[in-house]
Amino acid sequence: MSSSSPFPQNFTWGAATASYQIEGAAHEEGRGLSVWDTMCRQEGRIARGQSGDVACDHYHCYREDVALMKQIGLKAYRLSLSWPRIIPDGNGEVNAKGLAFYDRLIDELLAAGIEPWVTLFHWDFPHALYCQGGWLNRQSVDWFARYTEVVVKKLSDRVRHWMVFNEPQCFIGLGHKIGMHAPGDKLALADVLRAAHHVLLAQGRAVQTIREHAQLAPVIGCALASPISIPASDSPADIEAARQHMMGFGDEWTWNTTWWADPVSFGHYPEDGLRKYHKDAPQIQPGDMETIRQPLDFFGVNIYSGIVIRAGANGHENVKMPEGWPVTAMNWEVQPKSLYWGPRFLFERYKLPMVITENGMALTDWRSVDGQVRDPLRIDFLERYLTALGQAIRDGVDIRGYFLWSLMDNFEWAEGYRPRFGIIHVDYPTGTRTMKDSARWYSEVIAQNGANLRVPFECVGVF
Ligand code: GCO
Repeated sequence: MSSSSPFPQNFTWGAATASYQIEGAAHEEGRGLSVWDTMCRQEGRIARGQSGDVACDHYHCYREDVALMKQIGLKAYRLSLSWPRIIPDGNGEVNAKGLAFYDRLIDELLAAGIEPWVTLFHWDFPHALYCQGGWLNRQSVDWFARYTEVVVKKLSDRVRHWMVFNEPQCFIGLGHKIGMHAPGDKLALADVLRAAHHVLLAQGRAVQTIREHAQLAPVIGCALASPISIPASDSPADIEAARQHMMGFGDEWTWNTTWWADPVSFGHYPEDGLRKYHKDAPQIQPGDMETIRQPLDFFGVNIYSGIVIRAGANGHENVKMPEGWPVTAMNWEVQPKSLYWGPRFLFERYKLPMVITENGMALTDWRSVDGQVRDPLRIDFLERYLTALGQAIRDGVDIRGYFLWSLMDNFEWAEGYRPRFGIIHVDYPTGTRTMKDSARWYSEVIAQNGANLRVPFECVGVF
């Protein structure tokens, strides 16, 4: 370790993507439909009527993409598998060609010296199973376990790192309660919580399935979306207020962490959530909580922003940012200290090694007249956030890895292609990839294991 770097020697520097957002080839080689395919066909659902039909055409360009990852020097790549590409109707015949794609991709990564980190589910739920009730159907637990078994038997001779679900808050909350993401439903809270209970059961069964069938000793984690609360000052009262806020229930059920993480770690739903939602709480059958409580090897979390909180009359209150505060192309506030307080509060509660499974910034980058893609704001953003992460490590939080979202520009769900999150620019009409300045900068961060991060921690949140 360089004396000036807080990052441990074997720190995992990576980048992330997800199947539906990059693969394209939506109707090739036997792939079945997912709820995102059908959602994108409904008028008015997705910005500018866009879809992931072609996306980055990664299905065909994966060799070029892995070569770029190698050039950047990534140690790891977080990808997700498309369930309906592997089992087109979700629970029937296995599509050998679909599985072969991931087989080739994993070989390509390993040959380039890049460790694959596989997410089993990043939102592309099989449409055929949605027609049978989707996550509302308790059988979804068995469907998912079978899919997991197929995948693990095929890939676990080479894959060691697994994440089960990406951001269940989003595909259940945004997908089934708010209706903004696929499948676009607006269910009553009791149904939403029932679907969520099945997802937790499915995670438990998937973890058991991985441990039972894995050929290489598996390292298993989650990839939760955790809304982060940042104390307004270092006073113990503000820190406690932020902690309570982050681990509690605000007005909107969707954006909560403990409902998802407590059952897995402690074997029960959080008391305050049960009090708040008691008449809508799911029916728990004997043995359910034991199935859900499967120890994980790491706590993965996607962090982009945070809310500043101070102690106040009702325990805590939000601090509004001044006019003109920096926001990204998603309109998310730039809050670098979320990458300090988020891991710190989560580590304190769940006591698991932490991995940042996503962090990054959306802009609307384009190629300059000289052909280069200049993205100084993204570099500044990343430098601030990574400095905050480094400080969390200095202060004793066990953080093992960081995955930048995203390797390349891609289909940003309901927002379509306009927000660009990549460190590689994609010209969609031609498929041309261009490394942005941030890719070269990240490459240097990896090469120096973070020793080139120069902002003092005290300044990361000052604009
Ligand atoms: C999510 C997903 C990613 C997004 C990214 C930017 O958090 O929504 O994991 O698929 O593209 O986070 O919104």
